[in-house]
Amino acid sequence: MKSDATGWVDKERGLVSREAFVSEEVYQLEIERIFNRSWIYLGHETEIPAVGDYVVRNLGNAPVIVVRDTPDSVKVLLNSCRHRGAKLCRADAGNTKNFVCPFHGWAYEIDGALRTTGFDHHFRDDTDFSAMGLIPAPNVESFHGLVFACWDKDAVPLRDYLGDIGWYLETFFKRTPGGMEVLAPPHRWRTKANWKIGSLNFIGDSQHSPTTHIGPSTLDAARTIRDGFRKHGQDSFHVVTDEGHGCTLTYLAPGMPEKNYLTHPEALKPLYEESLNTDQVSMLHHLRVCVGTIFPNMSFIESQAGAGEKALIIRLWHPVSGTEMEVLSWVFAEKEADQGYKDRVLRNGFHNFGAAGVFE
Ligand code: FES
Repeated sequence: MKSDATGWVDKERGLVSREAFVSEEVYQLEIERIFNRSWIYLGHETEIPAVGDYVVRNLGNAPVIVVRDTPDSVKVLLNSCRHRGAKLCRADAGNTKNFVCPFHGWAYEIDGALRTTGFDHHFRDDTDFSAMGLIPAPNVESFHGLVFACWDKDAVPLRDYLGDIGWYLETFFKRTPGGMEVLAPPHRWRTKANWKIGSLNFIGDSQHSPTTHIGPSTLDAARTIRDGFRKHGQDSFHVVTDEGHGCTLTYLAPGMPEKNYLTHPEALKPLYEESLNTDQVSMLHHLRVCVGTIFPNMSFIESQAGAGEKALIIRLWHPVSGTEMEVLSWVFAEKEADQGYKDRVLRNGFHNFGAAGVFE
């Protein structure tokens, strides 16, 4: 297949070479041209609610610390000491007053400023310690609690980058006044597959579902629902935005009893009407499944969780190489929901979409 300079993409015929899903050369170009320029999802504000809370993530192929440095601010800092480049923070998550390098003990404030080298008096008198803080990501923004960052200082604002998909994200992540909260630390694992497989599966490859996921579709608790989904699958449609984001919406199959599907708690429904417009509320109440991807590698799904409540999941497909990715999976519920509901959503969410979930 040869239609562009690389031979990887045939736009006219809509074909992509399999080389693009294994090549280290493509992976390096993706890091340079996509992951170092795009807004990348890093985590949710409720993972770091208190000052000093942090989680360790990746922005492109660079390790970063996502830290709440004030009650109203989140910083994203390169996880690399300014002395000789040692990895500064070795824990996945925690709370701290300072980050102290395990190599020679340089200490940093939680906003990244260098507090002391431990031997400041050994430096020249004109040393500018204020220029030796941790390197910050130039752009960090939150969209209803979803924290994104971008290495490109000239990036468009996050809201412009999201474009029309923001309308759908709002429906899921800002449908009550309190918003959504992460119910547990994300499951995190590596798999021998290219990151694009995950992103593509969630943005439009719905046909894989009844075959790849034949296991869960045979479970008794889900059988009726799956049968309805297959029979009326043609009622689904895709949304693709100009910015490269998209989602698939599957509405309730005609004739199926709504009481089997509308599994959001009754107590929360008035809050949805308070936070969303009428079109968003209508979509929410008639959806069976919504699954989508924010370019390049954040996916989300709200689906029926067996006979129980719906679970809202975020997936991150972080590229490790041309043939390997790290997957992170978070489960969400409304802050205002009662603890029993949150417990069931968490159990159902990881039962389906955790590291050992039936959809894996
Ligand atoms: S590398 Fe961090 S203090 Fe030396």
